[in-house]
Amino acid sequence: MVVARSSRDSGSGMDIDRERKKEIAAASAVSLVQDGMVVGLGTGSTAEYAIKKLGERIKAERMRVFGVPTSFRTEIKAIENNIPIVSLTEYPSIDIYIDGADEVDANLNLIKGGWGSHTREKVVSFAARRVVICVEEEKVHENLSRAVPLEVLPFAVRVVERQVRNAGGVPSLRMTERGIFVTENGNFVLDADFGRIERPEDLSVLLSSFAGVVEHGIFTNATEVHIGTENGVVVRRKGDVLPVKKAEEEKKTKEEGEEGERVK
Ligand code: 5RP
Repeated sequence: MVVARSSRDSGSGMDIDRERKKEIAAASAVSLVQDGMVVGLGTGSTAEYAIKKLGERIKAERMRVFGVPTSFRTEIKAIENNIPIVSLTEYPSIDIYIDGADEVDANLNLIKGGWGSHTREKVVSFAARRVVICVEEEKVHENLSRAVPLEVLPFAVRVVERQVRNAGGVPSLRMTERGIFVTENGNFVLDADFGRIERPEDLSVLLSSFAGVVEHGIFTNATEVHIGTENGVVVRRKGDVLPVKKAEEEKKTKEEGEEGERVK
């Protein structure tokens, strides 16, 4: 396995194994799309595999499918793949949302926003009846622990940094080689590191209450996650227990049982 650069890079340093896992997970998600559906299209390299696959299906099966893009880049990719674009204003309720994620926990909570598109991604995903996330297995962990992207009004950046620190986080203003990263909505992104996130729902509510934060990258609305592995795609649905969690719970129950036996 060759790991040279992040999944956001394209080119020779790409991790071929991980790319393949993204691709099969995306294809699995796209297999759920049916004729006549309105599909929310996420942003990122995995979403782009899904867009390509959806374009192929539309052509091969002569399907009538419409896409709601979450970024300008996704809009261009959809057009290149002959997916007709519609807006949320026309379709405020959509059939299915397909996207990648940066991290997934055992309860299918997500961290998104690696590409800085999480505000639109959250809005479009909330419009969908079914929220289907596709990731490679390396992104699935018991708990979330990546820094949480916060889209922030530029004039509020210092105030949001203070709120993040007061909540026990470490904020970092996202930069590019040319300066501060600016979202399509004209805002900045603060990546807020809270370490291991034990209660994502609580942190989600807290971050939403911060003055100056437009939207944050914790998503608690995935209905299913398609995980690309070396042995194919594994689908987890909300309410399922991931093997890693199950194993830990079984160990805990066993230990508690042994403890109880000793006390008796
Ligand atoms: C964009 C996102 C992406 O879904 C996330 O960053 C994953 O990207 P990739 O599919 O390229 O690994 O949240 O804002």
